[in-house]
Amino acid sequence: MKSEKLIVGNMKMNLSATEISEYLKKFQFDDPQDQVVICPSAVYIPYFLKQPYKVGIQNVFFRDKGAYTGEISVSQVASLGIEYVIVGHSERRIYFKESDQDINKKVISALKYGFTVILCIGETAEEKGLLKTARVLKRQLLNCLRNVDTHYFSKIIIAYEPVWAIGSDVTPTLMEIEETIQYIKGIVLQYFGHEDIRVMYGGSVNSKNIEELNQISNVSGFLVGGASIRAEEFLKIIEVTVKK
Ligand code: PGA
Repeated sequence: MKSEKLIVGNMKMNLSATEISEYLKKFQFDDPQDQVVICPSAVYIPYFLKQPYKVGIQNVFFRDKGAYTGEISVSQVASLGIEYVIVGHSERRIYFKESDQDINKKVISALKYGFTVILCIGETAEEKGLLKTARVLKRQLLNCLRNVDTHYFSKIIIAYEPVWAIGSDVTPTLMEIEETIQYIKGIVLQYFGHEDIRVMYGGSVNSKNIEELNQISNVSGFLVGGASIRAEEFLKIIEVTVKK
């Protein structure tokens, strides 16, 4: 049976226009790949439209339009036919000081425009060291999902991304990931009444560890950063997780 997992490539702020055109030549499929989402730098999105996979954006602003120099609104992204948006990535939280409250506004506005929202949460190394992981994840979930109507929950995917695992070549153990996903599902059920929210894992996913990570029983997919900017590497990850 074909797996229903979603594989999302977060290219972050990488690659030149020339490198993107090389990437596009290599990143090819014979059949449509509805479970593959690629999130390039926003300037390159037009090159990725009409490809046999989905496109997402790495960030959006919650207002519809107006004098917000440099920002991109959900309505603008929706007008391109894009279906996925990443919200609350730890790099947005850390470098651009996005708060749970800012992220909550983005979640609500993106859902209103019909997006599937990939909401990133995760603890830092320091929080993990202080045994605060559960508390941090709960706080992020409750704040970022505040006032979200429960009928939208099927359009939300939580990406559990421990900050210390991002770009570090270190991942939690399979059991740690499985237990944390279970914990996240439990919080969403307890506080929002939504059963079985989809939870992905992200943080140093690559072609070497994907076979192993793919064994996690309750994971709904993977958010791939560094490994997604190398087409061959990303194709291997997709081969293991999505294709039969
Ligand atoms: P990484 O990044 O795969 O390079 O660790 C993941 C992410 O930041 O989403």
